[in-house]
Amino acid sequence: MADDTEDGEVELEARLAEQDTFEPSDAFVEQANVSDEGIYEEFEEPEAWERAANLLDWDEEYDQVLDDGDAPFYEWFTGGELNASYNCVDRHVENGRKNQAAIRWEGELGETRTYTYLDLYNEVNEFAAALRDMGVGEDDVVTLYMPMVPELPIAMLACARIGAPHSVVFAGFSADALATRMNAAESEYLVTCDGYYRRGDALNHKEKADEGLRGVEHDVETVVVDRLGDELTVFLGDHAHDYDELVDAHAGERVEPVSRDAEDMLFLMYTSGTTGEPKGVKHTTGGYLSYVSWTSHAVLDIEPEDTYWCSADIGWITGHSYIVYGPLSLGTTTLMYEGTPDYPERDRVWEMVDRYQVDQFYTAPTAIRAFMKWGSEYPAAHDLSSLRLLGTVGEPINPRAWKWYYKHIGDEDCPVVDTWWQTETGGMMVTTLPGVGEMKPGSAGPPLPGVSAEVVDVSGEPVGAGEAGYLVVTDPWPGMLRTLYDNDERFVSEYWSEYSDPDTDRWVYFPEDGAKIDEDGYITVLGRVDDVLNVSGHRLGTMEIESAIVGVPGVAEAAVVGGHHDVKGEAVYAYVITEDGSEGGEGLRAAIVEGVEEAIGPIARPEAVVFTPELPKTRSGKIMRRLLEDIANGEALGDTSTLRNPDIVDDIASRVEGD
Ligand code: WTA
Repeated sequence: MADDTEDGEVELEARLAEQDTFEPSDAFVEQANVSDEGIYEEFEEPEAWERAANLLDWDEEYDQVLDDGDAPFYEWFTGGELNASYNCVDRHVENGRKNQAAIRWEGELGETRTYTYLDLYNEVNEFAAALRDMGVGEDDVVTLYMPMVPELPIAMLACARIGAPHSVVFAGFSADALATRMNAAESEYLVTCDGYYRRGDALNHKEKADEGLRGVEHDVETVVVDRLGDELTVFLGDHAHDYDELVDAHAGERVEPVSRDAEDMLFLMYTSGTTGEPKGVKHTTGGYLSYVSWTSHAVLDIEPEDTYWCSADIGWITGHSYIVYGPLSLGTTTLMYEGTPDYPERDRVWEMVDRYQVDQFYTAPTAIRAFMKWGSEYPAAHDLSSLRLLGTVGEPINPRAWKWYYKHIGDEDCPVVDTWWQTETGGMMVTTLPGVGEMKPGSAGPPLPGVSAEVVDVSGEPVGAGEAGYLVVTDPWPGMLRTLYDNDERFVSEYWSEYSDPDTDRWVYFPEDGAKIDEDGYITVLGRVDDVLNVSGHRLGTMEIESAIVGVPGVAEAAVVGGHHDVKGEAVYAYVITEDGSEGGEGLRAAIVEGVEEAIGPIARPEAVVFTPELPKTRSGKIMRRLLEDIANGEALGDTSTLRNPDIVDDIASRVEGD
């Protein structure tokens, strides 16, 4: 087996290594939703975004496409009214697609469920009726702390139907993380789950939810989905309802979709930033839904008859935009998978692509690197010819992984879209359009039509071709976040202060990513320039991890940085000073790992905990993270001359090597 892989790799290297640009096939271009280069020019005026809004059904036409009167608090499609659940469900039932599969779900152990658009319509209505009955009103935030079960998108759509914004908390996050988010959003309703499967084991999720609820400062009404049946019986307790019982009790009920103002909140999504407090990113109904619908159409090339698979978790923005809202608004079939990609075998994903005849596959570079490591014999054992398009998101993809994906998964016949975007942008911003122009492995591509992304230097001047700088966006776009929940001030200071000039009313969005641009305007995103790590495509704040570590008894101080990791992209390195100046030890190391898992979740688990008597600091007392990163990466150390304690650097480096 290993030999085969090696031969394949050698051949791939030889043939593809030299190739820097790739063209979509004529067959792809011919059928593509967007294939005319002129599209870039058409988007010179904000009015062009009507094209996105036209993909939706509006209850009330909007008066104005963009209202920039109170920048950076931009408003889109003002005066318009619509309902997201109507657009993702009802209209497809009305348009003769009621028997088409909307959601196809597969559990890790192989059980399957299919919801046609009519099934989805029924259950969304019934659960919406149940939520109303529980007292959920318009604009009440409902927290959804659920794994990848069909009831998660159903609950999202039920909330949207009654105008209650949802706040989904990733199921892998800890009890503490749930409590923080529910408190911040003052959310009085929680939908959760008894448990789910991971690598064949039944995990008790309800226990974590209960523990989280103990940290919530107000009363909460809870709904629990029974995913595990007899495998796990949970005690519901006061203020808790069984999902199935609720839906049964409301069987056949219909809830009129509430007409929401275009600018009304559709959902909140908490994400990590530079400071310890997660940021509640607010997305609205009209702009967000238009944007994800449009990008699903133009970039993912989704048609109603497709079976589309995004392997992200709905607990992150990628799942919101490109498992739920984008694909369902276009009336396609979206595939959801509960488990891990190597259970029971390393070909699980490819076996599913074949069995479901998947047309588009959208995943993260970290997954591609794992697939690569496992070997090309796994995809080779399956017929992947149903695939028409491949996509990646979440972190930079190195050309070698891009080419492996292109060859071994796409058979050199599927365009690969490398899509740069963020929780805050709502949807894709920088990527090639698969039916227009060439692809360059390692470079996401030009900004999408109508998106004015640039790469600038510290003074805000565009950098020359080949130079590194900072990515900025100079004009608003419909999918943009509108504010941070309950914190307009932080919204302005986090995103609009670096390069904006309020005196001349010039507002520039700063995503906190470094980037390069080439002579064709293709952008290569280099990674975060703030204190945010990207571990397996998951965004984690170093401050959040540090405060979890400092909370462990025996720890005096901690600094967290990212070090390169072959599969995860980045891994968490924690440098720790003990309270009594001792060397630390296994007990404390274990307590630190546990502390991080409790505060955030296993995704933030440190790869290495390095005990040190001191941290490298500047004379003004600032921790020199760059040096700690160099140490984590085993790289030559940068300038240490500004350090107050230069000797400590070699000392720490020797501790890491000895780790
Ligand atoms: C990174 C995920 C390079 C980037 C949708 C960004 C990328 C952060 C790419 C947002 C890409 C996302 N190439 N880097 N194609 N896509 N990123 O909010 O650093 O979880 O700022 O949104 O992921 O992560 P978030």
